[in-house]
Amino acid sequence: MSESVKSFYDDLAADYHSIYADWESAIKRQASALDRLIRGAAAHASVVLDCSCGIGTQAIGLAQRGYEVFASDLSPKAVARAESEAAKRALNMRFAVADVRELEGAFDQPFDVVISCDNTLPHLLTDEDLTLALRNIRRVLTAKGLFVASIRDYDRLLAEKPSIVPLNPGGTHEEEVIVFQIWDWSQGSDTYLLRLFIMSQAASEWRVQEIRTRYRALRRSELTAALEAAGFAEIAWHKPEQSGYFQPIVTARA
Ligand SMILES: C[S@@+](CC[C@H](N)C(=O)[O-])C[C@H]1O[C@@H](n2cnc3c(N)ncnc32)[C@H](O)[C@@H]1O
Repeated sequence: MSESVKSFYDDLAADYHSIYADWESAIKRQASALDRLIRGAAAHASVVLDCSCGIGTQAIGLAQRGYEVFASDLSPKAVARAESEAAKRALNMRFAVADVRELEGAFDQPFDVVISCDNTLPHLLTDEDLTLALRNIRRVLTAKGLFVASIRDYDRLLAEKPSIVPLNPGGTHEEEVIVFQIWDWSQGSDTYLLRLFIMSQAASEWRVQEIRTRYRALRRSELTAALEAAGFAEIAWHKPEQSGYFQPIVTARA
């Protein structure tokens, strides 16, 4: 079975909202926390790039809050869904399909803020790829522009190494879709194969789809070191208790 990141998110694009019990509320909740953080660090920021927008969870919420939002992602199907979700809400946003390691060509303008939320950077499995992506992000920021990224709390998860991770507690039962993950940890490295199961009810039968991708359990110290190597300054971590966001967030200045 393929472990390609692009195929994983292409296959997931139509059902991605099912990861959340209520995607619409998540859009609002996440934008509110990100907005507070951006305002605190860059009061006059107005032009934002979401360089791993997926179906638009953070990009849509920030556009609804008045930011001028550009959004890109590796997965063409995720970008197409984000584009249609933005159109449904009458939001004026610009989209592109782009790998974060080759971000420079995606849009021809600099950004006050670049965001990459909900655990995208850990898809980059080597230090070389991570630093390459961060250098590209830094290049598209204005001088002293702000980078904002969130990742899972791998410092904690590496101690626990969980194998079964439910995704939509409470479920999106109206749609009869249940999503859960199995994590197969590799021996001798801090990576794991994520096997995502999407169970959906069609007529009286359940259909089960399994898709797979690999993640690096990226420690906060490792991401901090990669940000430094890419030339970022003022690197700061924000815990969920402080930021109101559901994952640890790192901010850094170009
Ligand atoms: C967990 S999803 C989060 C998406 C979105 N931020 C959200 O919360 O809905 C991770 C996203 O990162 C994208 N991604 C993974 N590797 C990427 C890369 N090298 N360049 C650009 N996007 C990438 C995937 O296609 C996917 O949409």
